[in-house]
Amino acid sequence: MKKLSRFGVSVESDLLERFDLQIGRRGYPTRSKAISDLMRSFLVETQWADGVEVAAAIILVYDHHKHHLSSQLTHVQHDHHDIIVSSQHIHLDHDNCLEIVVVRGKADEVERLAQKLKSIKGVKYSSLASASTGRGI
Ligand code: NI
Repeated sequence: MKKLSRFGVSVESDLLERFDLQIGRRGYPTRSKAISDLMRSFLVETQWADGVEVAAAIILVYDHHKHHLSSQLTHVQHDHHDIIVSSQHIHLDHDNCLEIVVVRGKADEVERLAQKLKSIKGVKYSSLASASTGRGI
């Protein structure tokens, strides 16, 4: 178990009241757990801003009937094979596919790949779920 530190924080009373109300609604067991999560989110944000190694999932929804779309998606992914950990393809219905591409690499490379995939004609929806390798947070 990691060593714990205590620290005092002064904030406006109404801010603390609103914070406590919201963390209560979200089921946080303690204020410490909620604040630790916020601190880690901030650290992950700084990892993305600093361009260090991160992990993420790129989610794509597309119609596989669109001409050349599947092969274009595969082609772009092969160009970035060094940062792609795995990908999963789900046939949502007769036309639509959902693909989850799990990546690990420098933040700017991950963002570049996500943008490349998103901008392929025929991709209906795309989002980048930014995460962390778990180190340094
Ligand atoms: Ni499919």
